[in-house]
Amino acid sequence: MNSSQDLKSSVTMRSVIVALALSSATALVAPSAPRMPTALQAATKDPATTSYQPTEGANAAVDTNNKGDAWVSQMQRPRRNRKSAGVRSMVRENFLTPANLMQPIFIHEDSNEVVPIPSMPGQSRHTLDSMVEQVKKGMALGVKSFILFPKVPDDLKTNFADECYNPDGIVPRAVAMCKAACPEATICTDIALDPYSDQGHDGIVLDGKIVNDMTIEQLCKQAVCHARAGADFVGPSDMMDGRVGALRLALDAEGHTDVGIISYSAKYASAFYGPFRDALDSHPGFGDKKTYQQDPANGREAIIEATLDAAEGADMLMVKPGVPYLDVIRRIRDVVDLPIAAYHVSGEYAMIKAGAEKGWVDEKAIVLETLMCFRRAGADVILTYYATDAAQWMNDEGNVCL
Ligand code: PBG
Repeated sequence: MNSSQDLKSSVTMRSVIVALALSSATALVAPSAPRMPTALQAATKDPATTSYQPTEGANAAVDTNNKGDAWVSQMQRPRRNRKSAGVRSMVRENFLTPANLMQPIFIHEDSNEVVPIPSMPGQSRHTLDSMVEQVKKGMALGVKSFILFPKVPDDLKTNFADECYNPDGIVPRAVAMCKAACPEATICTDIALDPYSDQGHDGIVLDGKIVNDMTIEQLCKQAVCHARAGADFVGPSDMMDGRVGALRLALDAEGHTDVGIISYSAKYASAFYGPFRDALDSHPGFGDKKTYQQDPANGREAIIEATLDAAEGADMLMVKPGVPYLDVIRRIRDVVDLPIAAYHVSGEYAMIKAGAEKGWVDEKAIVLETLMCFRRAGADVILTYYATDAAQWMNDEGNVCL
């Protein structure tokens, strides 16, 4: 404890410091008033035998206030803005609502069964009827957008992937069913050849190479086919150069000026897509996707992709995968004003599920935190397999702004 004289001198010193801080408007950390050690303390000053007292000695770390309580002369105390739930909610910078979430739905017609996907517990290949139920369920919880991914039977797969623009194919029929059942739902489709490719690649393969411009011809047919079926947005996930501009022209030429393009702008060649490829049976037939998807080591390159897509007429830009690429979301956010979508991909979903099934992490807390982190990084929209569950959790907590 300080003597009363020590306390007095430190109070005087403090008022000088407060005055200084006010006059210069600079945050100052006040040095504590020096205190004289007692004779006993001086005699036993051997550091090995003296226990450290933060309130004593020159430059004491902790001071004493008028009431004699420990006091650190710290004027900036950010904890004041965190002191209660009410204050925290008053100063919260970002919000997550079900309307920010887009639910991916896997569809198939191999059978009349809803087939669970082992590497994505809780997700299934839906029949078209159960797909419509999923859309209705999401809509009831405030999730308003959906993206469809088809599992295509092997006998329909070819190198040119012509099934991708079959007007009687699974996707156009699925889109029409969703729009008929829920006209208010925003229905998006994936534009890429891989589900229809016997090579398991996003483009046409010639001489072992994925060819760019011929692939775009197919993508244009696919996008127009989906637009005719009623799709609200098409999402090119192929990473061919120049596809956004070509898709915009194709859609416009056919009168679909209202159909938007959510471009997978910064899509990385990622190991996090594994469970998705299980779901669609779309693993690459040979090699990998590194000649078209981005190198995970590259951040600046994402800006090149994003600015090109914006210039070519994309309506939204997507970054994919999600959590390991939050920096990419932020970098694009800082230079482009279009809405940004983040794809919280299958491998990220699978890892949280696995941890939760083992009881090692709190699934609900981890998911809601993860989704909020996307918003903080700068994403407007989040594609996540957790969309409907997260919306349910938000509704349960009465924490929904619709
Ligand atoms: C296909 C496509 C992929 C994903 C979305 N669209 C896989 C890939 O590029 O191999 C991955 C989504 C996920 O992992 O959740 N072009």
